Order: sequence, then C-alpha cells, then structure tokens
Amino acid sequence: MRIVREPQKIQKLVSKLPRPVVLVPTLGALHEGHLALIRRARKRARTKGTVVASVFVNPTQFGPEEDLARYPRPFDRDSALLRQEGCDVLFAPEAQDMYYPDRSITLIENKLSQVMCGAARPGHFDGVCLVVSKLFNLVQPDVAVFGEKDFQQLAILRRMVRDLNFPVELDAHPTVREPDGLAMSSRNGYLTQEERSQAPIIYETFLLAEQKVRAGTASATKLLNWMKQKIQSAPLAKIDYVTVVDPMTLEPVSQLRPPLLLAAAVFFGKTRLIDNRMVQ
Ligand code: PAJ
Repeated sequence: MRIVREPQKIQKLVSKLPRPVVLVPTLGALHEGHLALIRRARKRARTKGTVVASVFVNPTQFGPEEDLARYPRPFDRDSALLRQEGCDVLFAPEAQDMYYPDRSITLIENKLSQVMCGAARPGHFDGVCLVVSKLFNLVQPDVAVFGEKDFQQLAILRRMVRDLNFPVELDAHPTVREPDGLAMSSRNGYLTQEERSQAPIIYETFLLAEQKVRAGTASATKLLNWMKQKIQSAPLAKIDYVTVVDPMTLEPVSQLRPPLLLAAAVFFGKTRLIDNRMVQ
C-alpha cells in the first residue's frame, strides 16, 4: 500500500492507477464500519482496479465547539488495518496542504442541510461537501463508497453529485452494528461504561417503532412522542432530535406511509450519537 501525503502528488499518481478507482473517504480512527466500506470498495475495484482510502480530519466540517482537537488520530493503526484489507493507496494529507490560507471559494448546501444534524451543526455539511468535492477532484474516482449510518450526509452528497455533475457513482453501505445494536462509530470510544450500556436504546427504539408503523400506527406525532419517551427511559440519554422523514427530501412526514426514515441524534454525556433506520 502506498501512502501519499501531498494533494499534488495524488493528483499526478491517479492518471497512472488501474481503473476502476474506488474511493473511501474517512476521518480515520477506523473501526469495523469503515473496514466494511473498504471491503466493499475492494470488491467494486476487483483485483485489477485501485482502492484509495483517505484519512483526513477535515477542519471545515467541525464547528468551533466540536471535537476537532480531541478527534482520535491513530495513524499507524489505521494504515495497518487498511493494508490488511487490501487498500492500494492511502491518501492522508495535512490540513495546511489541503486548504490554502487565503482560500475564498466554497460550497453551500441550503436545503437538505437545514434539518436533522444540519440544524444543530450550521456549516457542517458545507464543510463535508467542500472536502468531498476536493477529494473527488484529486482522486477522480469512478466509484465512492459511503455508509448509510450518516444518511443525511449520503443524501447531501448524492445531491452534490447530481447538481454539480461529478462523474462518480456513489455506493451506499448498510450500517455496521455492535452485537447489541449500537451503530459503530469512532465516537463510541468516548462513552463511559454506564453510557455505553445505555446507548443501544436508540436502535432498540427504532426497531420497536418500525413494528408500530407496520402494525398500522398512522400518526407521526404519536409515534414521535412514543419514541422520545422510550429513548428518555435511558437515564443518561439527552435527545438532540428524533424525527421521521421522507428519505428523499428529508422533510418530516405527518402520515406514516413507507418508505420512511427514522432518525435520531442523542447525547450521552458530551458524546453525540446518531443513528437511523429505513422503513421500506
Ligand atoms: P467518518 O465518520 O470517518 O466516516 C467515513 C465513512 O464511514 C462514512 O461514509 C460513514 O458513513 C461510514 N461509516 C461510519 N460508521 C459506519 C458504520 N457503523 N457502518 C457503516 N458505515 C459507517 O463521514 C465522514 O467520516 C466524513 O464526513 C467524510 C465523508 C470522510 C468527509 O470528511
């Protein structure tokens, strides 16, 4: 596996890489969820093509009060894991090489990012769009793999690819979970033992809510109230949002007719966990 640090270098290298080129962008601190994406990328690239992973803690998507400084950066472990999974190129730039100090062009998404996670994290998805568009320009992938765990991010990136005509196919991977249902996340490591033991309440609530929808519960308000109560039955859970939306527009629904997306962000202590579940 080749490790490339400089943006100019990866851009030069890419024209020599066997196609298809399949990109997996990450912030690093890799877990089984990320590795499942790498395996999917390896399959999509077949033996001949090239799997490129990026590890970059992107400053433009972190708010001033967020965990940019304390975000884990276990680089040697990450690169060993990527090598084991058959990744061909690891692109791991420094922030000062990705962003010019006098940069003056940016991207703004002003519809899908107004709701859910975007409502509490102004500018977050603009930063995601900016870095992913830069990664697409640098790596010129045929396919890019993203996780459904970050459903809103995926919906926004699909919109970006459509609206800006990026010649790339987005491939979505289902959420990888711990045996007790908690969605894998680099932030799970921040949880205390007590918080960790209560965190599966989020997914448990989604599964029960799904059953209620299937059994014919019609009122979204009623379902939401029930979901909020259920999540709050975990004493350490503090709800940021719980919502039921149309999976295409991300707009809240009043009628519970599938396809629907159940989604939530819940604080356990200072750690904000997100999860979602499609009801088809
Ligand atoms: P990060 O949180 O590191 O996630 C990288 C990719 O892994 C994303 O596509 C995310 O959806 C996926 N992922 C994370 N946990 C997962 C899980 N439990 N199951 C399946 N997929 C999972 O998302 C980002 O980084 C950044 O915003 C990025 C797109 C890299 C832009 O900086």
